[in-house]
Amino acid sequence: MGLRERVREAADYLRGRMPFPPDAALVLGSGLGGVASQLADWGKIPMREIPHWPVPSVPGHPGEVIWGRVGPTRLLICSGRVHLYEGYTPQEVALPVHVAVELGARRLLVTNAAGGVNPEFEAGDLMLIVDHVNFMFQNPLVGPSSQQFGPRFPDMSSAYSIRLRDLARQIAQELGIQLKEGVLFGVLGPTYETPAEVEMIRRLGGDAVTMSTIPEVIAARQRGLEVLGISVITNRAGAHGHGAIDHHEVVRVAQLAQERLSHLLFVLLERMPRD
Ligand code: HPA
Repeated sequence: MGLRERVREAADYLRGRMPFPPDAALVLGSGLGGVASQLADWGKIPMREIPHWPVPSVPGHPGEVIWGRVGPTRLLICSGRVHLYEGYTPQEVALPVHVAVELGARRLLVTNAAGGVNPEFEAGDLMLIVDHVNFMFQNPLVGPSSQQFGPRFPDMSSAYSIRLRDLARQIAQELGIQLKEGVLFGVLGPTYETPAEVEMIRRLGGDAVTMSTIPEVIAARQRGLEVLGISVITNRAGAHGHGAIDHHEVVRVAQLAQERLSHLLFVLLERMPRD
């Protein structure tokens, strides 16, 4: 079955269960599922019940689609996401974005856990994603059929919305939440980086590194969505003599940052531009 048909079946299934169409999709990364706890009119469904939906296999990704409202914004939340390193294709990783668009979403908010590469970043920091480098060397738009969703050669010159970044910055300041900024490198994983790889990423202009997010953002931009991305810096990438990196520690630090991230996202959604 082609991607278009899979997207349509998943969207039809969700349309039959959600009480309203979403204005925006929110993708929550490792250890960040609690962000969904403050919604109005919410409901949820396990991802495994939705036809064709890619289901996460990693600890820290509960795998639910949640809907709800924050102020004027009706949300479709992916609590848990899949990664290329799980063996999913880039098209499968991006399927939730296509479904959200099919249901009516015009915006994508993405979060992820990331290793800090910028020496000024510390575990627990939030980083507004200013731009990304696709170091996964895979792209969800490869193949003959991607043109059915948008341009063959989508523009990526302002992938992360300038006005949503301005809004996030302003709200973080009002709330007294420190928000770092930087360029996110996406790598395939699942290995964490060697110190030499971290050094390379730094020299190439990276501030943080993740194993997610890039495929979703690329698909979202092809579909014309406005994108905002925030990384939780869960560890120093490559460890730098701080001891080995461990997935459980990554999830634990993400959970500690969750309250700040939720607060920021919540106010942002309340004030999300209507156009
Ligand atoms: N590298 C890549 N991805 C990550 C890291 C890291 O150090 N931490 C959390 N996600």
